[in-house]
Amino acid sequence: MKKDFISIADWSREELDAVFALSAELKAKQKRGEPHPRLQGKTLGLIFEKSSTRTRVSFEVGMVQLGGYPLFLDSRNTQLGRGEPIEDTARVLSRYLDGIMIRTFAHDNVTEMARWASVPVINGLSDLLHPCQVMADLFTVLEHKKSFQDLAFCWIGDGNNMANSWINAAAVFGFELRLAVPKGYEPDTAILERARALNPRILLTTDPRQAARGAHVLNTDVWASMGQEQEQQQRQRDFAGFQVNNELLAVADPECVVLHCLPAHRGEEISAEVLEGPHSVVFDEAENRLHVQKAILATLMG
Ligand code: CP
Ligand code: NVA
Repeated sequence: MKKDFISIADWSREELDAVFALSAELKAKQKRGEPHPRLQGKTLGLIFEKSSTRTRVSFEVGMVQLGGYPLFLDSRNTQLGRGEPIEDTARVLSRYLDGIMIRTFAHDNVTEMARWASVPVINGLSDLLHPCQVMADLFTVLEHKKSFQDLAFCWIGDGNNMANSWINAAAVFGFELRLAVPKGYEPDTAILERARALNPRILLTTDPRQAARGAHVLNTDVWASMGQEQEQQQRQRDFAGFQVNNELLAVADPECVVLHCLPAHRGEEISAEVLEGPHSVVFDEAENRLHVQKAILATLMG
């Protein structure tokens, strides 16, 4: 049966660990300039209903480095954008492609695509989840901290697609995760409940300092995600005090690392000093999108 990558929660710890091992191997090969054509002649369609810099470029370049071929499919210029149903699009594209990545709004669009496609489907971000990003984040933490053992992770800000994927990751890997989220912006209840049944060390608070105290990994994201632009001003008021800045870092572990999936809004969810400062690993994190997604592609389509 074909396999998809829609949520971190769908894969076992062993499978995810294997992705990290392959990511490290492919990264080392790429750095040495060694060819690694694991997807020779294979094609990946990339459907985008939202903007992207990292996801688009890392998937396209990743396919080329694996010997395959990416097709960028801007939904506005396909029949999908004119209302052709996902179930038809999925079956047609499956006749041409070896894999499909989709970035969309409603998470159901991703699961529908996966249900009707006979080729692997990868979630390149939905309103609910951003699993490829969190896999790259986790791999970046492994590079800097060697293992997840004894680490406290914290999330400061919106209970959004990134936060939900971090909660799924905490459920699989069992690490301590503290989320500081303003009232009314909590993560998905079903995801949180499921994760807490597997890992009781997932704390939800409205106090960023409580979440950051002694934390080894600090993570944040924009206050208004794609599709929420009209809420920007309200959110700016509601998220006051939820900035990752030097004051917050002062209560964290002295060796902490700071993650941000980017794009970042300096002076909102993160201060320029922290984003550009010695604890920030955001550009390693962005680079690792490439290596980790190549491993996911090779696992699904190899
Ligand atoms: N972090 C991330 O997914 O970036 P893009 O929106 O640029 O793809
Ligand atoms: N939460 C953000 C992530 C962007 C990569 C969004 O959905 O817009």
